Amino acid sequence: MSIILGIETSCDETAASIYNSKEKKLLSSVLFSQIKLHEIYGGVVPEIASRSHLEKIDIIIQNALDQAKLNLDNIDCIAITNKPGLVGSLLIGLCFAKSIAFVKNKKLIAVDHIEGHIFSSYLNQDFTIRDDIEFPHICLSASGGSTALYLVEDFGKYKIIGQTLDDAAGEAFDKVAKIIGFGYPGGAKIEKSAQTVNFQDFFKYPRLKNKKDLNLSFSGLKTAVLYDLINKNFYDLKTGPKNINTVLQNQVSSSLLVCISNIFEDKIKQAFKLYPQAKAFTFVGGVACNNYIKTKLENVCDNLNKHFVSPHCKFCGDNAAMIAFVGAYKAKKNEIDNLYLDVFK
Ligand code: KG4
Repeated sequence: MSIILGIETSCDETAASIYNSKEKKLLSSVLFSQIKLHEIYGGVVPEIASRSHLEKIDIIIQNALDQAKLNLDNIDCIAITNKPGLVGSLLIGLCFAKSIAFVKNKKLIAVDHIEGHIFSSYLNQDFTIRDDIEFPHICLSASGGSTALYLVEDFGKYKIIGQTLDDAAGEAFDKVAKIIGFGYPGGAKIEKSAQTVNFQDFFKYPRLKNKKDLNLSFSGLKTAVLYDLINKNFYDLKTGPKNINTVLQNQVSSSLLVCISNIFEDKIKQAFKLYPQAKAFTFVGGVACNNYIKTKLENVCDNLNKHFVSPHCKFCGDNAAMIAFVGAYKAKKNEIDNLYLDVFK
């Protein structure tokens, strides 16, 4: 069971990838991003997402097979994201995976999307697999849908040691981006805008005060940004933004980015205090595309003498390579599912 087809459709990316576990090499990773379809609505519209997955999934899987120079008969098993995510989107991927498994008599393996992100740190940009991340290690997975810290003890063995009590970090970037008039998604635009003012902290938004545990919270930060703009007469709750110019956009972006980075830096120091046995730190999820935060977290790890790892941006956001990779070690452990597999199970 060494050739795994990974399929990912949990949100707004239709993705497929082929992994050869014997050679420890990804053979392909193909993705269609639906961002263009959703951006006019300011966020992901579930119905549009499902319809787009349905239109693209066969083409994306065929592309992944072509890129790997294989066909469905060469595949040993299918790894499919079955949770968490948008139910309609998950169902498209799962039904497609089940159909292939049924018709071609292939093994089916359910993969948790978050587990995919946690182990995406092993994927190298050149499609090889790294073998230098020691266990246990601490993982920060920060995306638009979730943000949590994990203690990772082995492949498939991890536990949450802290998580956001409300919004995800990516959600905070996206919501503030919307307030100041950037489109969706906002993270990358905020970073670009912050760079123009050299990542200065103009407004010193409130930092997380909680030192008791490793939990995080970002919803208050978003509200703090909003009320600061209202107080300065740049925003009206009824009519929206008022005269927000590029200078202000850059200052808000930069202050927000520095604040979120500081929150992560503090939590990671705290995490290593609580789990000194952890040898490394991995930073994954869409927010890990942010080079400013990446550099800051790498500095924290250097000072603590801990190995820092963050995958290339193409494996930080949603992708199917991480699903195929998790599917491979599940196959090795014989964690096989059947056609009764459902979403969220
Ligand atoms: O992992 P991902 O592709 O999808 C989810 O599962 O949510 O993450 C998307 C999130 C969005 O909130 C987006 O704004 C954020 O990742 N993001 C960034 C950057 N690039 C993407 N956040 C901060 N800085 C970036 N450069």
